[in-house]
Amino acid sequence: MPTKPTIAVFAPNPVNLAKATAIAQQLNLPYFAPGQPYDFLLLIADQYIGIQSIRTPPTNPFYIDFLSAKLHYRQTQASLRKEALARAIGIKPQENPVIIDATAGLARDSFILASLGYNITLLERSPILHLLISDAIQRAAQDPIAAPIINKLHLIQADAISWLQNQHAANLLPHVIYLDPMFPERRKSAQVKKDMQVLQSLVGNDSDTEQLFAVALACAAARVVVKRPRLAPLLTKRLPTFQLIGKSARFDIYITR
Ligand SMILES: C[S@@+](CC[C@H](N)C(=O)[O-])C[C@H]1O[C@@H](n2cnc3c(N)ncnc32)[C@H](O)[C@@H]1O
Repeated sequence: MPTKPTIAVFAPNPVNLAKATAIAQQLNLPYFAPGQPYDFLLLIADQYIGIQSIRTPPTNPFYIDFLSAKLHYRQTQASLRKEALARAIGIKPQENPVIIDATAGLARDSFILASLGYNITLLERSPILHLLISDAIQRAAQDPIAAPIINKLHLIQADAISWLQNQHAANLLPHVIYLDPMFPERRKSAQVKKDMQVLQSLVGNDSDTEQLFAVALACAAARVVVKRPRLAPLLTKRLPTFQLIGKSARFDIYITR
């Protein structure tokens, strides 16, 4: 999508109107008016807050669901040894590393790490993504089995560049900083999953990734982990200390100290 998408807030059920109006105000978005050419609706539904493309063809509403069968399966299969992301983190959860997921997105990677026992601070700069994650966290926290995992996720709406710069200035250095910025070519791939397409249309490409990487390198007390598509070029000219290469993704690990 070449220009910024237009988004309106909409409550299909009028009982959610007050909540929807408050969210519209908070995010500085219009409330739905019929006949306007919106790209997306931010749906304030009974059971979830979601996003729906209403361009042709319209999509089904999308929302983050930490209780979904797919995530549940992945979570039950994950182990510290098998999960490449955990190996990339390189410090055991029992050692209580401070981990920052500086590009939270749909929070799936953070959820997997939390289910392996890590506490994670998630940074997301898009107010809409932040709202979707926050809603998913609130819903999943009601589930007695998911709650102990969900309680390990600490979500902050912030631009990671300035947030990390502030941490650095205060000498609060996290052990690991995880970066999974948008990768431009994902847009062209036929295999791009629907939810990733939605995410990409909402936030566009991350054009300041090099700056984020530089700040992360200065800040991380142990390592910076960068997720890339398996065959993608390195994020910058700096060579990683080592790589872990999976079926579709690759982790480039930069040991910092
Ligand atoms: C590809 S997605 C991450 C997907 C995520 N790893 C997951 O498992 O769902 C990238 C996200 O990083 C966010 N992002 C990029 N740069 C950021 C920054 N400097 N500060 C905060 N969020 C950022 C984008 O808004 C986008 O939501």
